[in-house]
Amino acid sequence: MNGPSWRVPLGRRDGRVSRSSEALANLPPPSANITQLKASFRSKGLSDRELAILSGGHTIGISHCSSISNRLYNFTGQGDTDPSLDPNYVVHLKRKCSPTDTTSIIEMDPGSARTFDTSYYTLVRKRRGLFEADAALLNDNATRNYVLRQGNSGGSNFFNDFAASMVKMGRIGVITGNRGEIRRICSAIN
Ligand code: HEM
Repeated sequence: MNGPSWRVPLGRRDGRVSRSSEALANLPPPSANITQLKASFRSKGLSDRELAILSGGHTIGISHCSSISNRLYNFTGQGDTDPSLDPNYVVHLKRKCSPTDTTSIIEMDPGSARTFDTSYYTLVRKRRGLFEADAALLNDNATRNYVLRQGNSGGSNFFNDFAASMVKMGRIGVITGNRGEIRRICSAIN
């Protein structure tokens, strides 16, 4: 997808049991505000700047309509739309996602959802970040500054930042000692 690559440290221990409930308990929801996002990332040892960098992962991939239906159709429980979203984009998103649609998918970075680039930050700047959690990056000095710098010459290098942050994120909760096992195949227990 034309993105950066990085060296993945090998030979570390991994768990033998995976539970989807544990994953959800550790992930912020798409409706998270900046305070919740910062707290969630800090609880894993990731800084506010790394929150802004890793959110750039949304330059690729898709979302289900259900992840944004509240934002489009029932933001405060009054049948309203999130005012932080570009009204022209709302029209476009509503055409793609009806209120009760739980199966359709939409590109998070339309037209460039299979290319890893800095266009995510352009979208957020234009108030077209898909989730409240994307829009929220504009509500804090550190994350806002990072978003605004991308694409400007002299700004920091998103690709290098992303690679370094991915390596750091990969260190979260690594287990040691006798727990778990070193897998022979990364995606399967031995
Ligand atoms: C900052 C907090 C984050 C929130 C609230 C969040 C939320 C979400 C949501 C709601 C979806 C769509 C799920 C669906 O409806 O199917 C999604 C997709 C995705 N997220 Fe995040 N995310 C966050 C951080 C990250 C990070 C740190 C990365 C990677 C560095 C990442 C990479 C992705 C990718 C690649 C997809 C698309 C998956 C696909 O195409 O199937 N996200 N995210």
